[in-house]
Amino acid sequence: MTMCDLIIKKKRGHMLTGQEIDWMIQGYTEGRIPDYQMSAMMMAVCFNDMNAEETKELTLAMARSGDVLDLSGIEGIKVDKHSTGGVGDKTSLVLAPLAASIGVPVAKMSGRGLGHTGGTIDKLESFTGFSTSLTPEEFIRNVNEIHIAVAGQTANLAPADKKLYALRDVTGTVDQMSLIASSIMSKKLASGADAIVLDVKTGDGAFMKKMEDSMALAREMVSIGKLAGKDMTAVISDMDQPLGYAVGNALEVKEAILTLQGEGPEDLRELSLVLGSYMAVKAGRAQTPQEGRKMLEDSIENGKAFQKFQEFIQSQGGDPREALCPELLPEAAYQEEAVSDKEGYVSGIHTEEVGRVCLLLGGGRETKESVIDLSVGIVLYKKKGDYVRKGEPLAAIHANDRKLLEKAKERLASCYEFSGTRPEKQPLIRAVIE
Ligand code: URA
Repeated sequence: MTMCDLIIKKKRGHMLTGQEIDWMIQGYTEGRIPDYQMSAMMMAVCFNDMNAEETKELTLAMARSGDVLDLSGIEGIKVDKHSTGGVGDKTSLVLAPLAASIGVPVAKMSGRGLGHTGGTIDKLESFTGFSTSLTPEEFIRNVNEIHIAVAGQTANLAPADKKLYALRDVTGTVDQMSLIASSIMSKKLASGADAIVLDVKTGDGAFMKKMEDSMALAREMVSIGKLAGKDMTAVISDMDQPLGYAVGNALEVKEAILTLQGEGPEDLRELSLVLGSYMAVKAGRAQTPQEGRKMLEDSIENGKAFQKFQEFIQSQGGDPREALCPELLPEAAYQEEAVSDKEGYVSGIHTEEVGRVCLLLGGGRETKESVIDLSVGIVLYKKKGDYVRKGEPLAAIHANDRKLLEKAKERLASCYEFSGTRPEKQPLIRAVIE
């Protein structure tokens, strides 16, 4: 068997066997299969798909590519959460400390930015000194002591996904159902949590733009998780506009802090409460999602959620003063507004393009070696249903480069669609699969 044979097989639309997938993943993890061949395979999968059997085999091979964390040293039911990726999706920054503040043991494995979407690890690195490279012992100790640890993939945790994730990010091969399902679920299986809540995004800013594709992705992941004995719930949530107002690493951290203090945007708060209420039930902290929600709301109100956030930042080497004074977080040199040359109700926002404007400013990676600018991004002033007058600002652009700033202003303004009548409000939560 050669890698070239397998690429040709997939290019011609044939199914790969479990043995072939296992061989390929092992070879890639160990460096025997180079990036250029794996890129060709990823693209062949994008064009010809994988069926459910191949997706399951790919997930298991990736989960087996390194160690599986043994979390039996942590008391209680360990819960993890993962999003399929969106624009302005800083939910984990709010949800993880929020759930931990009511006693849910949050053992979370996170990723970096991918394609036009941001990643929790990049965002958290806005804090000076913050590290997600935890040893298994540190990870377990933190969950035991303060109910929360957020780790990136160490060299030995689903290393196949770590390599593939970085490769897909820069080869245009992110938005494929089997690749997303296997990427997320391999990490989740290797991370050892007992229960998993998935936030599957749907809409223009998601990798799955259509509801039926998002539902299929959610079902696939729930089914793989259940096969592995995990307690699974998937929530399908709206990504037809950015979540909250901020898009960009440090800007999103600031918005998450406001939300933990009870002053954040309504959609971000609501999504965090919905996902958190399922986590509370899974961990046995609440009998019903309603009861869990009430506990989470109380925790925001009485300040415990924000206190837990500070404790979490400190426990992983970050400077908690930056949580108390977010103006200490990275700030871009220029902040200017993108202005509307049209008038009317905002009827749509090209959300993926908003994410791409953030990449243009330096908020994401163009190549595997790119270094992210944590300070840049966009803060929207207007979202769907808002009325905009000609000449009114639509968003603030935060940039460190004048030329990019000008380009970003133009591109951002063209992300907005207007209509003469107020569009109907779309529900934030589209479906729940248990
Ligand atoms: N999150 C992941 O971890 N992987 C993907 O492919 C998409 C979102």
